Amino acid sequence: MSLRTVSVALGERGYEILVGRGLLERAGELLVDVLEGPDAVLVTDSNLLATDLPGRVGRGLEAAGLRYRTVAVPAGEASKSMERLAALLDAILEGGADRRLAVLALGGGMVGDLAGLAAALLLRGVPLVQLPTSLLAQVDSSVGGKTAVNSRFGKNLVGAFHQPRRVLIDVDALASLPRRELLAGWAELVKHAFIKDRALFTWLDEHASAILAGDPELRIEAIARSVAIKAAVVGADERETGGERALLNFGHTFAHAYETLTGYGAELLHGEAVALGMARAFALSARLGRCPAEDVRSARAHLARVGLPVRASAVRRGGFPIEETVALMRRDKKAAGGRLTFVLSAGIGRAELARDVPEAEVRALLAADD
Ligand code: GLY
Repeated sequence: MSLRTVSVALGERGYEILVGRGLLERAGELLVDVLEGPDAVLVTDSNLLATDLPGRVGRGLEAAGLRYRTVAVPAGEASKSMERLAALLDAILEGGADRRLAVLALGGGMVGDLAGLAAALLLRGVPLVQLPTSLLAQVDSSVGGKTAVNSRFGKNLVGAFHQPRRVLIDVDALASLPRRELLAGWAELVKHAFIKDRALFTWLDEHASAILAGDPELRIEAIARSVAIKAAVVGADERETGGERALLNFGHTFAHAYETLTGYGAELLHGEAVALGMARAFALSARLGRCPAEDVRSARAHLARVGLPVRASAVRRGGFPIEETVALMRRDKKAAGGRLTFVLSAGIGRAELARDVPEAEVRALLAADD
């Protein structure tokens, strides 16, 4: 049974990501060296509370002499709110907290972001551990220290960088993940290959069916290799000031526009929006003469074959209104001074930031449903 370790090189804020099977049951022994004291708060959501996962973690903590209490928040993106953050902080403080208290975030992206921000704010910062249970959280949101809640003015607008002390990625936690969510996570997993690692893409393309079907060893390999790319990017540009971390937003300029148009709900999951956005980013790159057509075909064929959307018309009949889509992209966080900014591809494994992409090309692409 393999256990892989990926390091995030951030000096004294550096940490390890462990990828393997049965890690949640061993949470205590795997965490005790990075915690400050014996007390922990296990933050999870109402769906996970009904499973055996919190109990498995709890037994693991107790076996290593750690004490814990559990706080659950309602499942769903709506919990990434200022109100829920305040309630979570109160619930933690009510049980007694000092700076040695650790916050353990057990769940998907919502729990990781919310509990992570609570850990950043509590007593000006307490130790955080990420225990991601969805594929999307395992390969993306649990690593890199971004924490946030949403505001009525937009997603993730109130947050902090707060790196975890360790990340435990237990592939057994994926056993009950619905197929649709697994695929949504796949979009972020393969995104790392698209931006940095052509050989990984070739390998993922070959083994996608077996990985998605649940082969644990292949899952460990896929997640460890994908997350190693994210770890390297974060190590090089922790706060997204050097241009490197922005590459992780490949496909996201389109994706955020589609998520806004669909209301961030069940019509289009984040990972599905990212898949569609990446398909479009590849097509745009080819249109601008930056990416070989063959790479665009392989990337899009891969996404379609695993079951992710590559055309807007597959998500919504007739696609999305072009003017509104362009207007939303102009308002994207990364759009400087209203100019359209994209992460484009110079070929599979080579992403690059492009400012000043001609709007006419984007409109033509959207009109062609590419
Ligand atoms: N998911 C993008 C980032 O962590 O920077």
